[in-house]
Amino acid sequence: MATPEELKRIAAEKALAFVPENEYIGIGTGSTVNEFIKVLAVSGKQIKGAVSTSKGTSELLAQLDIPEVQLNEVSRLAVYVDGADEINHSLQMIKGGGGAHLNEKIVASMADKFICIADERKYVSRLGKFPLPVEVIPMARSMVSRKLVALGGEPELRIGFTTFNGHQIVDVKGLDLSQPVTMEDKINQIPGVVENGLFAHNAADVLVLGTAEGAKVIE
Ligand code: A5P
Repeated sequence: MATPEELKRIAAEKALAFVPENEYIGIGTGSTVNEFIKVLAVSGKQIKGAVSTSKGTSELLAQLDIPEVQLNEVSRLAVYVDGADEINHSLQMIKGGGGAHLNEKIVASMADKFICIADERKYVSRLGKFPLPVEVIPMARSMVSRKLVALGGEPELRIGFTTFNGHQIVDVKGLDLSQPVTMEDKINQIPGVVENGLFAHNAADVLVLGTAEGAKVIE
């Protein structure tokens, strides 16, 4: 049986086909996208530069000599490549397991195409088994948590974790995510919420799934 690492690698290798040469691209955060960065580095494919979403991604890019460019220096990204914690059949996602979903949502919104790479365990018919990460302004975390309880959730503060932008994360179990667009908006309307990890407005355009039978492309 293929290991999760092998499945991530299978998806990462296939995703390379969606990356055009001589363009700027965006790169997400996490163990799956790290496989993609490694595959890109040895592929010989020339890109103009990559916008990173986290310190971890920036460090790996530098280590493998892939040029990084700042978001403010570009006006368009040809593609954005990232993993997900869960992705449904409409290619809507839960992200933020690594706490980078704010940067990820910003960078993804600039790209012409969102390419999600994931191992097959992440592909679900219904979002919500994975707790939804909600980034909050620290002074508002208790108030926001009470509002999340009112929405049907069970929020839990991610202890000892601060995001790149100096905020905290509340992970929320038990929410009804059957209407992902509505829930994404509802949560973001709570004062004190910076961004939640539902990518329903910004669903992926392409899912490259690593499966035991090889890579599967879903569009
Ligand atoms: C980072 O905050 C997340 O959005 C990641 O994209 C997501 O958690 C997937 O990470 P893995 O590829 O490590 O599972």
